Amino acid sequence: MTDKGKKISIAPAKGLLGVLTPGLGAVATTLIGGVEAVRRGIAKPIGSVTQMSTIRLGKRTEKRAPLIKDFVPLAGLDSMRFGGWDVFHDDCYQAAHHAEVLHKQHLDELRPFLERIKPMSAVFDPRYVKKLKGDTTNVKDKGSLMEKAEALMRDMDDFAKREKVDRLVVCWCASTEAFLAEKPVHKDLAKFEKGLRESNPDIAPSMVYAYAALKKGIPYVNGAPNLSTDIPALLELADKTGSPLAGKDYKTGQTLMKTILAPGLKARMLGVAGWFSTNILGNRDGEVLDDPESFKTKEVSKLGVLDYILQPDLYPDLYKGLCHVVRINYYPPRGDAKEGWDNIDIVGWLGYPMQIKIDFLCRDSILAAPVALDVILFMDLAKRAGLKGIQEWLSFYFKSPLHLPKLYPEHDLFIQQMKLKNTLRYLMGEAPITHLGNEYYDF
Ligand SMILES: NC(=O)c1ccc[n+]([C@@H]2O[C@H](COP(=O)([O-])OP(=O)(O)OC[C@H]3O[C@@H](n4cnc5c(N)ncnc54)[C@H](O)[C@@H]3O)[C@@H](O)[C@H]2O)c1
Repeated sequence: MTDKGKKISIAPAKGLLGVLTPGLGAVATTLIGGVEAVRRGIAKPIGSVTQMSTIRLGKRTEKRAPLIKDFVPLAGLDSMRFGGWDVFHDDCYQAAHHAEVLHKQHLDELRPFLERIKPMSAVFDPRYVKKLKGDTTNVKDKGSLMEKAEALMRDMDDFAKREKVDRLVVCWCASTEAFLAEKPVHKDLAKFEKGLRESNPDIAPSMVYAYAALKKGIPYVNGAPNLSTDIPALLELADKTGSPLAGKDYKTGQTLMKTILAPGLKARMLGVAGWFSTNILGNRDGEVLDDPESFKTKEVSKLGVLDYILQPDLYPDLYKGLCHVVRINYYPPRGDAKEGWDNIDIVGWLGYPMQIKIDFLCRDSILAAPVALDVILFMDLAKRAGLKGIQEWLSFYFKSPLHLPKLYPEHDLFIQQMKLKNTLRYLMGEAPITHLGNEYYDF
């Protein structure tokens, strides 16, 4: 069990890595500005596992625990170049200013860098995002959806040429789209491509971006709960072109807390009768989620978590009939500084009730940016290691982890963390760590 495996062949992270984000709003500008702030040494990449975490290798007695970024051949922050698309014309400085996440002091210092990043015109359909207000005219408005996908592919090529990047990752940081269930046009690639040529209304803009990236063999990350790549047609394309996929919906704020706390309660066989979660949020994301159709996409993503972690079918005495309610209230004065309340009705010995209250005053995009950074760097690694399709080992970062239809998603943060680190050990030919050993087993 302690035997090392064979190291997987991984192409080196030579040259520059281009990162393209559909959506240059709060999350994207906090990511881009944040990476530049770290590069300049004016802030630390707190919250980023790739930049700050170590990984234990071998027996505890060996005392080997390198930083992950020194263990696996990740692209360095200095090699990253950023670009993206948005329906607004604002450059990254204006967008960051509007988002009100980064402080004035950081924004002033980063201004010339952020101003240089201007949005390319977006593929947009107001039926999928209803609540955006303002001048949303930076869009590709001619041709079929297939022609728009081809225009996105040209944008990717032009960006790569202009910035002299060797590899690309595309990472969705745009608004949450209206709820969409799988339709006939999503069933296989041939139907989907026909649908693109005919501009089938069941193809959402996020699917057009994903198609364009995957067609070119570029890794694609879905940071929102949109259906997007979670359809057979795009899985087929990812397989055909050898492109890695990861998603959906960054796990930040309240859901992060849920996936930390719920596994602990279950580990101690404490019951949960109800979990009521409510939020106030005042940024543009909150405004978009004020539309019931976009909220439904988010709600589905948030609600799935507890059932999978607590497994009421296996533990009916503890979790059957659990009442789980999630609310998001758009409250403009708060901006990006979300407040999330949880009331958890738990059940102890002999059925005696108890309560836990959480009041999390968080900053949404400050939590999301390091998640986006890690996933982008790991997806670039996955591509260079020849991994394609769903990267389940990145479930750690998502509220609704992508999974193959025959598997259920893993939501428990600690299982997810073990899977992530063991995948890195596997890629580098190190033995997985099972925490099975003690002195008698010699590891
Ligand atoms: N902030 C978090 O903690 C967090 C966590 C999980 C998921 N998310 C998701 O990440 C996404 C981005 O969040 P945000 O806070 O940056 O939102 P935001 O509103 O600040 O930015 C989204 C941007 O996307 C643009 N956009 C919308 N449709 C587009 C399209 N088709 N093409 C190009 N641009 C488009 C909007 O104009 C806007 O500028 C949202 O879907 C959100 O739900 C955020």
